[in-house]
Amino acid sequence: MNSELLFTPFQAGPLSLANRIVMAPMTRAHSPEGVAGPDVAAYYRRRAEGGVGLIVTEGTAINHPSAVSHPSIPNIHGEAALEGWANVVQEVHAAGGKIIPQLWHVGMARSIGDLPNADALPIGPSGLSLAGEPVTEPMTKQQIDGIVAAFARAAADAKRIGFDGIELHGAHGYLIDQFFWEKTNQRSDEYGGDLEARTTFAVEIIDACRRAVGPDFPIILRFSQWKSGDYGAKLARTPDELTRFLTPLSNAGVDIFHCSTRRFWLPEFEGSELNLAGWTKRITGKPVITVGSVGLNSEFTGGAAEHHDEDNLDRLLQRLEKSEFDLVAVGRALISDPAWPAKVQSGHKEEIIPFTPAALQTLS
Ligand SMILES: Cc1cc2nc3c(=O)[nH]c(=O)nc-3n(C[C@H](O)[C@H](O)[C@H](O)COP(=O)(O)O)c2cc1C
Repeated sequence: MNSELLFTPFQAGPLSLANRIVMAPMTRAHSPEGVAGPDVAAYYRRRAEGGVGLIVTEGTAINHPSAVSHPSIPNIHGEAALEGWANVVQEVHAAGGKIIPQLWHVGMARSIGDLPNADALPIGPSGLSLAGEPVTEPMTKQQIDGIVAAFARAAADAKRIGFDGIELHGAHGYLIDQFFWEKTNQRSDEYGGDLEARTTFAVEIIDACRRAVGPDFPIILRFSQWKSGDYGAKLARTPDELTRFLTPLSNAGVDIFHCSTRRFWLPEFEGSELNLAGWTKRITGKPVITVGSVGLNSEFTGGAAEHHDEDNLDRLLQRLEKSEFDLVAVGRALISDPAWPAKVQSGHKEEIIPFTPAALQTLS
């Protein structure tokens, strides 16, 4: 199939992108003391030069002592870190790309004693680990308000230093997702209850970020059914449940939903071929990003018999042609080859450097 469709421009409100390819957020932990240096700026610039339309950065720590669990994960607060990011933004813009930071708090997915800030305890809606074990006290209302404010502050700073939008990390079992998930959210106040009530924390964050950045600054929400450590987890088991989950989030002012799945071609619910992004677009009417194993061969995609293709682009393009989704996030394929988009566009697919786990060791 002709890959041209991937290279058509995209516009959503004030966000205009040269093509449909998004770099998926990927933690690299190459920012000592939480500051993204020139090597990180060059890493992202190479992806913009390689033809990525929109870069979503690795998860960045909002201003809270237990936001992340590694000392070289970049912060999105403090003068040095913000200066580092301003430089990254400048480099990416100079190469003609667009870039938004992913705002992150890991919640209970941090162990006691983890760096940075070894004394800072993990926080979560009910103080439960992802396995459901009690670890700390449930978050107080004051802590919740503080985290909402920290997300909003990061959003305002992101806008001030020139980013093209923000993405809230509401996926994979981290703090926002711990509120979504019944296993980690057993609260009986307004932040707990049914699936709709469990969106309250995220809705407050979206509201606060919107107030901080104004109406014309894109807010993307990334969410997932799966959790780290539990690939089979489900927030929504039916399209109706997904509707109840997404409606308050959409109404709160999310501009684009980033629907995190591990394999883009898998139908989300029985009786339809639509994937999670497809359902999200149908339910909310908002633009959506799909993701999951784009450009990877069967070695990394489960190797099911019908999926022994070296190249799943045809299947991606068929779905894009039907407008099942608007944008396509690419993760590992862009780690191994920053010029992946350019090579796909020019038809030189044989020149693509295939992903191997060794590529994760460097920031090339
Ligand atoms: C090394 C690595 C780090 C990742 N870090 C993040 C992250 O910080 N935030 C996030 O939302 N997802 C993260 N992910 C998930 C990716 O964004 C993406 O959803 C996943 O890799 C599937 O896409 P792919 O098959 O194209 O690699 C990470 C994935 C990898 C491989």
